[in-house]
Amino acid sequence: MLNLITYFYSAPFVPGILLADVWHGKHSALEPAGTAASEIATLFWAMAVGAAVIWLSMIVLGVYCFRTHQGMHPPRLPWFIIGGGMAVPSVVLAVLLGFGLSAMPRLVGPAPEGSLRVHVTGEQWWWRVSYEHPQGLDTQRVELANEIHLPVDRAVEFVLDSADVIHSFWIPSLAGKVDTFPGRETRLVVTPTSEGVYQGICAEFCGGAHAWMEFTVVVESPEAFDAWLAEQATPSNTLHDEGATRGRTLFRQQGCGACHSIRGNVARSRVGPDLTHVGSRHSIAAGRLPNDRLSLVRWLRDPKGLKPEALMPSFAMLSDEDLESLAAYLHGLK
Ligand code: CUA
Repeated sequence: MLNLITYFYSAPFVPGILLADVWHGKHSALEPAGTAASEIATLFWAMAVGAAVIWLSMIVLGVYCFRTHQGMHPPRLPWFIIGGGMAVPSVVLAVLLGFGLSAMPRLVGPAPEGSLRVHVTGEQWWWRVSYEHPQGLDTQRVELANEIHLPVDRAVEFVLDSADVIHSFWIPSLAGKVDTFPGRETRLVVTPTSEGVYQGICAEFCGGAHAWMEFTVVVESPEAFDAWLAEQATPSNTLHDEGATRGRTLFRQQGCGACHSIRGNVARSRVGPDLTHVGSRHSIAAGRLPNDRLSLVRWLRDPKGLKPEALMPSFAMLSDEDLESLAAYLHGLK
């Protein structure tokens, strides 16, 4: 019976890993593109092999016991049970424990000298990202939302905190997850090893729109990263077509600047996401929608319908033409 219980206990891990999003896809932890993620993937495979060894030895024992009639146990049976039921699992688990502990210093060690520092604040339900200014002006941060660019093969230290509740910052392809707390800083060191576009998510239930709290991580060459950061540090370029000009006026009239900041415009508030270069981002509303004019109109009209409990107010009282002008202005902020 003990063997049967062990079987049912360990069997779910097989369909679990086959169905999990970690196997392939945008949240894959098993296609690592960073040193910490490689470490974690190796640890996962070692654990999976160890679990398979224990599971198989339990199955063999179970089958053997069922096929041996009561009262006819051969003299070797006690040793068989002690060996397969106790010695094998103990040895396998001890080896796995040692292997896991040996990886810990490499996963939680301090950031190397000269690491890039990126500050990330979890908010319901998006991520505020800020870089120290490229010209070294520590007081002036380059701020954006839900998007992080990193140079390949350079260590980055994320300094994490939260504005409201506990969130969890996780880029499965690059590293393990770290919780973010209000009033307390946590840190995560990441060294990306392959250029590409990766997805990050919030991995801690944090309220109604928890599942819509994604962000994009772009790993690029050091030259491309420097150019991107220098561009982010500049004020917005604005489109000068008729729609965008109308949209800029509407942005002021509707009081959008009470929550949002656009460097180069009058808007300076830090309640909601910084919109200085919003038109150049991969998505809007923390991964909820692609970044195009139509999606911006949908978002302005019905934020709570798209993202439950979102704090962004609805602008459904505006006409279609007004919403399209606002979208044209915002999408032009590159
Ligand atoms: Cu933030 Cu879940």
